[in-house]
Amino acid sequence: MSGPTPELPLVVLDALMPTAQRLVLDRRGSMVWEVESHRGRYAVKLGYPIEATSEWPAQPWTALAPAREGAVLHRLGSDQIAYGEWERGTWNIQPWHEGPDLYRLWEPCRAEGSSVEPHSSVALGCVEALAGLHSKGWAHGDVQPAHFIIGLERTHLIDLALARGGHVPEGYDFPFRGCLVHYEAPEIARSVLASGEAEPTQAADVYALGASLLISATGWRAVEYPDDASRRVQRKAIVDGHRRPVTVPGELGRLIDAMLSPAPEERPTIYDVGKALI
Ligand SMILES: Nc1ncnc2c1ncn2[C@@H]1O[C@H](COP(=O)(O)OP(=O)(O)O)[C@@H](O)[C@H]1O
Ligand SMILES: [Mg+2]
Repeated sequence: MSGPTPELPLVVLDALMPTAQRLVLDRRGSMVWEVESHRGRYAVKLGYPIEATSEWPAQPWTALAPAREGAVLHRLGSDQIAYGEWERGTWNIQPWHEGPDLYRLWEPCRAEGSSVEPHSSVALGCVEALAGLHSKGWAHGDVQPAHFIIGLERTHLIDLALARGGHVPEGYDFPFRGCLVHYEAPEIARSVLASGEAEPTQAADVYALGASLLISATGWRAVEYPDDASRRVQRKAIVDGHRRPVTVPGELGRLIDAMLSPAPEERPTIYDVGKALI
């Protein structure tokens, strides 16, 4: 869909006084900008409602996601966070994290005939980022390879718009309706199929990290279903347990297999995973 070239709202321009800016993406009710200013480099996220089409119903909650994420980041004690409202929804400002995401970093492991093995140290960085959140009593709810940014000094876990664990202002809150289905634990998929909603948990985050490590290292989804399967069919395959064998070698492979256990109580905690990788 084409339209006018997107611009940053005035409130954000006033807050950051950008010296340079670049639109990173604009999809599904969410825009992300990389903004350079005298105070440093920031990610600016803008949310707007998704209108109904013949294929999907309207999704007004995408407009609230940046403010919800801003409130969560604030609650977690992150520095340099701001959030508020613009004409079409809400926005947030957060520090920009430089680096490739997990999926991109492990591209060489997935190349045809490749003998490059996924590094445990990279997996450990992702585990530490998620453990940092869990140790504060939160669940992320949307763990996926694109949400781990592998920096030079540490790995950052981004996109906290769906996280649960503390107070979120009522006006910016909305129910959890599942995440990217490839990373949904069976209990989440089952609940979304039954009621349209689910409760994000730390055990479901561990499953999602297992699925993220697997797909990034091998290119395979944790559960088998056709590429063009509807979300309902994908969720049914997850609930019915059509698991693929984990082909990652060594201790990392064994851990991924345990993280993908269908029963949440059989999965290791994120701290168990961290200890096993050190
Ligand atoms: N703080 C950040 N630092 C660097 N890149 C970011 C940051 N926040 C978002 N991005 C980039 O924008 C993409 C989308 O951001 P995300 O927070 O996942 O928003 P959403 O999925 O809600 O659109 C990320 O995959 C990443 O490439
Ligand atoms: Mg995201």
